Amino acid sequence: MNDIFLKACKGEKTRPVPVWIMRQAGRYLPDYQKVRGTVDFLTLCKTPELAAEVTLQPVNVLGVDAAILFSDILIPLEPMGIQLAFSEGKGPILTPAIRTAEQIKNLKGITPEQDVPFVLETIRILRKELAFKCPLIGFGGAPFTLATYLIEGGSSRNFLNTKRMMFQTPELFHELMSRLTDVTIAYLSAQIQAGAQVIQLFDTWGGILSTTDYENLVLPYVRRTLDALSGLVTPTIYFVYDGSHLLHLLKDINANVIGLDWRTDISQAVASLGSAKSIQGNLDPCALLLPEQQLRERVKAILKAGQAARSHIFNLGHGILPEIPWEKAKMLVDMVHELSS
Ligand code: CP3
Repeated sequence: MNDIFLKACKGEKTRPVPVWIMRQAGRYLPDYQKVRGTVDFLTLCKTPELAAEVTLQPVNVLGVDAAILFSDILIPLEPMGIQLAFSEGKGPILTPAIRTAEQIKNLKGITPEQDVPFVLETIRILRKELAFKCPLIGFGGAPFTLATYLIEGGSSRNFLNTKRMMFQTPELFHELMSRLTDVTIAYLSAQIQAGAQVIQLFDTWGGILSTTDYENLVLPYVRRTLDALSGLVTPTIYFVYDGSHLLHLLKDINANVIGLDWRTDISQAVASLGSAKSIQGNLDPCALLLPEQQLRERVKAILKAGQAARSHIFNLGHGILPEIPWEKAKMLVDMVHELSS
């Protein structure tokens, strides 16, 4: 089995440097489009044979060093009592938006084996299929990122409703965060039990907060989640999008790897984080639009900066865009392997 990704997660420098791509199973891949042409996104997530099939596509087509479970961070919100829909072009819609004490009180806890059996079954299928290939990453949304979707009822521009709850009724916000932390711990522990070999915690919207608000209102729940998982000895990756101002706070959290978006300078990240954390990232997803030679220079620069870290996992700084030709993604994976061998 190709274990360079697992080794790098545990802090070992590897040759070559492992590479995978956030959102690597998705609309830019013709094979994915074919499957998506027959079922909607949620059905795809809930049909283990199909979810496993699209998870394997980038492993086979691109030659990445890790597979990531095909699912979505919003999946565990449904059994909490929320209606979830993905509308073409508008992103996710959650009904009702959660804003009152009564609504928060009525949110249900989850029992993963009963409430999201399809996720666990997908993981079990994938571990069999991947046995001689590469490791499987499980994932979930961090409590704050999930809270923004619940409170806003979907995606948002300025997160006004979220910040209103944080600033005007902090006790409600804490109650919601506490419940989401319980759900996230149960959900990710079940994924590990089913066979996920690494867990990535996505805190996509953590970076919208000031350092102080993040530290006081969000970080305690990130800590509680990661502390609970650390007992299960599976390596963890914590990814905050646009989080360069928060890195100094992450120095001693219970994650093996910190994921960086493309605005964060890797050398500065290493200076903030010290030698106890590995780094994942951080090519601008739009850099895949560059001509080959310029892309190569950027990849080289990232690999060079990554050498200062305890270990480095190459990735984009955020998800790959549907507009990118898959051949360019394959070129990137080959380039990383070649340049770091
Ligand atoms: O990385 C992978 O290949 C694994 C699969 C994965 C998906 N979503 C599949 C998906 C992962 C890890 C996610 C995480 C996710 N989902 C995040 C955190 C990561 C990030 O992007 O910061 C967030 C915020 C979501 C919520 C979400 N899901 C949104 C906002 C959208 C709509 C935007 C879009 O691209 O259409 C989704 C839908 C979604 N999740 C798609 C995929 C492949 C597109 C669905 C389709 O039309 O096929």
